[in-house]
Parts: sequence; C-alpha cells; structure tokens
Amino acid sequence: MGESNRGDILTVSNLHHTYLQGTPLAQPALFGVNLVIPAGSCVAIIGHTGSGKSTLIQHFNGLLRPQMGEVVVNGARLSNPQVDIRAIRQQVGLVFQNPEDQIFERLVGDDIAYGPLKQGIPLSEVVQRAKWAMGVVGLDFDEMKNRSTFAMSGGEKRKVALAGVLVLRPQILVLDEPTAGLDPRSRRDLLRRIRDLNRSEGLTVVFVSHNMEEVAYLADTVYVLAAGHIAFHGTPRELFGALDERPDLQVGAPPGVEILRALHSRGYHVDTTRFTVPEVAEEVAAAASGQRGPAAAAEPPSGDLSAPPTAWEGPAHRREPDGRHPHAHAEDRGDAHGR
Ligand SMILES: Nc1ncnc2c1ncn2[C@@H]1O[C@H](COP(=O)(O)OP(=O)(O)OP(=O)(O)O)[C@@H](O)[C@H]1O
Ligand SMILES: [Mg+2]
Repeated sequence: MGESNRGDILTVSNLHHTYLQGTPLAQPALFGVNLVIPAGSCVAIIGHTGSGKSTLIQHFNGLLRPQMGEVVVNGARLSNPQVDIRAIRQQVGLVFQNPEDQIFERLVGDDIAYGPLKQGIPLSEVVQRAKWAMGVVGLDFDEMKNRSTFAMSGGEKRKVALAGVLVLRPQILVLDEPTAGLDPRSRRDLLRRIRDLNRSEGLTVVFVSHNMEEVAYLADTVYVLAAGHIAFHGTPRELFGALDERPDLQVGAPPGVEILRALHSRGYHVDTTRFTVPEVAEEVAAAASGQRGPAAAAEPPSGDLSAPPTAWEGPAHRREPDGRHPHAHAEDRGDAHGR
C-alpha cells in the first residue's frame, strides 16, 4: 500500500469537464468541482444518476485530464501534459463501474497478473499478490485462476476487475459502485474487507455508491454531487442529520435511521442522529427496555399508540413470554408503551 502519507493525497480544484467539447453534441458534466481526499480517509461520492460521479473519479488516475481546473495527486499536477501518468496509475487504482471495461485476458489468473507482470514484478511475487488480491474479493485462487473470463457472471467479473486493481497495491483505491450486482453475502464480505484495508492498512479509499447503508458503514467523509457540482460535503452524521433541511440533495437515509425516526415519531426518545448498525442497535435496545419509551416521558407520546400498527411495527401481534397480548390489560399499558 506504500508508505503512510500525511495530509491530502488528492485534491481537485475548480474542475470542469464537457464531453464532446466543441461539437454540437457537447455535454457538460462537471462545473467547478472542489474536493479533498486526506491520506488514509474513506470518502464516499454519492448523487443522482448522471450527476457526474464517474466523470469525476475518472480524473483521479488521469484517465480524463482536466479541461479546466486542476487535479493534484501526491503533488503531481495532472493538467501538466508532461506528468508521468504511469506513475499516477500505480498510485491510484481505479475500478470502473462496468467491469467489462477492465477485463481483457481470456483467463482469470492472466487478467489479474497482467498489470504487475507488465510492471516487471517477478512471477513468484505476482502469484503471492494475486492470491492475496483474490482472497480480498472472495475468489479462490486455485479454483478460479484457470476459469474463462468470458464465462463469468456479472458479480464474478466485478470481483476479478477489483482483484486486478488491488494486485497493483495502489495507495488510493477508487471504486465506482463496487457492490453493484453482488449477492448480499459477497457484498457484506467485500465491504468488510475494504473497510479492513482502509482502517488497518491505511489504504485511502474513494467509492461511488447509491447505497446509504454502505455509506454509513464505510465512509468518514461524503461528497454529494448534483448536476456536476458539489452540493454537500461533510461527515455521514452531518449528511444524515441534514436531510430534512436539504431535500434538494435527493439523498435517502440508511434503513437504521428510518427505524429510529419511526420510533421517535411514536414518542420514543431515541437519538435519530445515530446511524451505524451498532448505534441503531443501542438505541432500539434502550427503547425496548423502557429507558427511552414514551411512558418514561413527562409529556404524552406524540404518536397515537392505539392506532393500527404500521408494516414495520407489529407489537400488537406480538405475544408476551406468558402468551398474553401486551395490550390485553389496562394495567399493562404503561409497560407496553415503554417498549
Ligand atoms: N462518454 C460520454 N459522452 C457524452 N456524455 C457523457 C459520457 N459519459 C457521461 N456523459 C454524460 O455526462 C453526465 C455525467 O455522467 P456520469 O457517468 O459521470 O454520471 P454518474 O453520476 O456516474 O451517473 P450513474 O449514477 O448513472 O453512474 C451525464 O449527463 C452523462 O450523460
Ligand atoms: Mg457512474
């Protein structure tokens, strides 16, 4: 992963990009984007379809060059035509949104080994690295190395494309929707491994995602792109706490936050600014134990607890351990409300 750096490893200032510039089909995609990636951070880039996320991150390894503005990677200015772009690509590993754009070789092992062999790394080390990279994405080396890349599912292709970038051991890993098309278990395993690489090995990670659960789990910083400009920049806590005031961002809350909001609207004194799974579990447990329930509050609950349960709720269908319905007796109501 290279040595650990201090400060900002990648900065973007006033970046503009127009596809097919100077033609009648010109399509502006980025308008004055500013962004900073501190070394060792995990940054999420989110936003609507077509907001410019892929265009932006394709500037990070020099695949797209700044038409106006600047991108600086470890001090190297990518607007400079003389910049050593091969050196930049060794530092910044970019995994495309579409894995088929990234896979060229016929066999999985050859495809993953291609980059490091081209860099002149000895075969024995390439094999060690390929085993490690395939392990990170959950592919068995012996089982997969001779599989045909043409005869793979979309999720397998995505894993191979990611392994083919990890094997280069970049300092910055840039992922465009890394879990799209993966089954829930592969998705969870991959997120956990990316998180480990970031938290334990200090790998700087930038990822594009439409999934707020992923953002809540992985990111320490979030940029929201809207129509080619940065509409919000902050921590996930700041973002999820600002959603009511910022409907313009068109960002949804992670499911845990929705659960806490539903509890809150029913009079439970839960902290709706908490959003990670362990935090949400703590709040729900506190509510369930009666510590945060409306019965404990001086004010009556704002939600109508006699109303029919909503789809997620269902306490009216739940039985107490002794088999009684929780609302069966008037004297039980305080307890039932305290849940
Ligand atoms: N190769 C291209 N030629 C012309 N226009 C393009 C090209 N690629 C993207 N665009 C346009 O640039 C804008 C930004 O596209 P981009 O792919 O960066 O969006 P995105 O945020 O990654 O979207 P998604 O969430 O769908 O992946 C869109 O209006 C898109 O139509
Ligand atoms: Mg995209």
